[in-house]
Amino acid sequence: MPDGERWVDIPVGLPEEGGTVVFEIDGRALLLCNAGGTPYGVTDECPHVRASLEGGVIRGTTLECPLHGGRFDLRDGAPVKLPIRRAAACHAVRRAGERWQVA
Ligand code: FES
Repeated sequence: MPDGERWVDIPVGLPEEGGTVVFEIDGRALLLCNAGGTPYGVTDECPHVRASLEGGVIRGTTLECPLHGGRFDLRDGAPVKLPIRRAAACHAVRRAGERWQVA
């Protein structure tokens, strides 16, 4: 992450393994995912037609969109399965004491 980017506390806890949870920061919906114990943050908007990604299925480091089944990699947003063709907007997540923070 470039210097000068800010970290913001995530107002929800990490969901259980394989789970997702939506939260808002500055009016913007983000999704916190737990992929095998590793947290990933992504804008809660599918790159296909902007549906919410909440409840999508996590397989390895990929998230499957609940609407049409497209899939992308949570590590960098890269599309993995059609109909997703564009990258998802991923956000770094880090531990800060008892809380999680997103970039
Ligand atoms: Fe996500 Fe279509 S809205 S794959």
